Amino acid sequence: MKPITKAILPVAGLGTRFLPATKAIPKEMLPIIDKPLLQYAVEEAIDIGIKEIIFITSHTKRAIEKHFSANLDLEASLKKNGKEKYLEKINPKKLQDIKFTFIDQHEQKGLGHAVSLAENCLDEDDDAIAILLPDDLFISNTKSCLQVLADTFIKNSCSVVAINEVKEKDLSKYGVINPEEISDGLFKVKEIIEKPSIAEAPSNLAVCGRYILTKSIFNSLKSINPGAGGEYQLTDAIKDLLYSETILATSYEGMKFDCGSKQGFVEATMYLALDDNELKHDLKESIKKIIT
Ligand code: UTP
Repeated sequence: MKPITKAILPVAGLGTRFLPATKAIPKEMLPIIDKPLLQYAVEEAIDIGIKEIIFITSHTKRAIEKHFSANLDLEASLKKNGKEKYLEKINPKKLQDIKFTFIDQHEQKGLGHAVSLAENCLDEDDDAIAILLPDDLFISNTKSCLQVLADTFIKNSCSVVAINEVKEKDLSKYGVINPEEISDGLFKVKEIIEKPSIAEAPSNLAVCGRYILTKSIFNSLKSINPGAGGEYQLTDAIKDLLYSETILATSYEGMKFDCGSKQGFVEATMYLALDDNELKHDLKESIKKIIT
């Protein structure tokens, strides 16, 4: 199979858990320190060789389109005011040759429905596509989560999803797999269940927001009905794909923060701030003061 060059980033969700912040600002544009959450996932995708980012978005989230377009007035004003050092921040080299595609999801019918809208973006020779849920922020000093998936995909020529262990009480928030261990951290998916109860959960291994799926996923997406929460679930399409193809699941290196929740968002901000040479010294002092 040829390396993957396209990635879908579904960003049409309502971000209810972050109201009122998300009344006017897309959740994905909330900053972790000084960079919108979404940009971390975009950069992770570009770093594995993705050339086209397909955002599944909504008409209420035009700030995303603006963020990934040039802002010539701001560039001119920065140059005029001798603030050239910010030019790379607003127009990073890394993003310059990337194609950004925006598709509106008119009704929030679920992640599976959102992903299905990207089908026409695939060319004949695209074997598979990456999917990144920007809410999940992965930080690694070695390989990124998506890089681990891409390497596994190239080696095994089949779909692969990222997984991590979750606490029993949280299993009902995720797609949970029944794993057959192949080697350390690598599993064959035997079964997958969306949002299982503790009794139904086949393991404590839950799928997190990075996937590489063969293009047959689009046929599977056509075959599913609304599932958990009345939404079209990507997990149900993956379950359908399992009838005809092998799907692997792999652990990843580094940390994951669920920035779709307030707790995860604050933890990610603290983690990155405490890793930032400009911020960490004073921040540690402030934290000491606050907790004493
Ligand atoms: P979530 O359910 O976690 O995100 O969807 P949400 O709906 O924005 O958040 P809350 O629960 O209201 O606070 C997971 C991912 O799928 C996308 C979301 O944008 C998020 O990236 N999504 C979800 C869509 O693009 N469309 C949908 O219909 C549902």
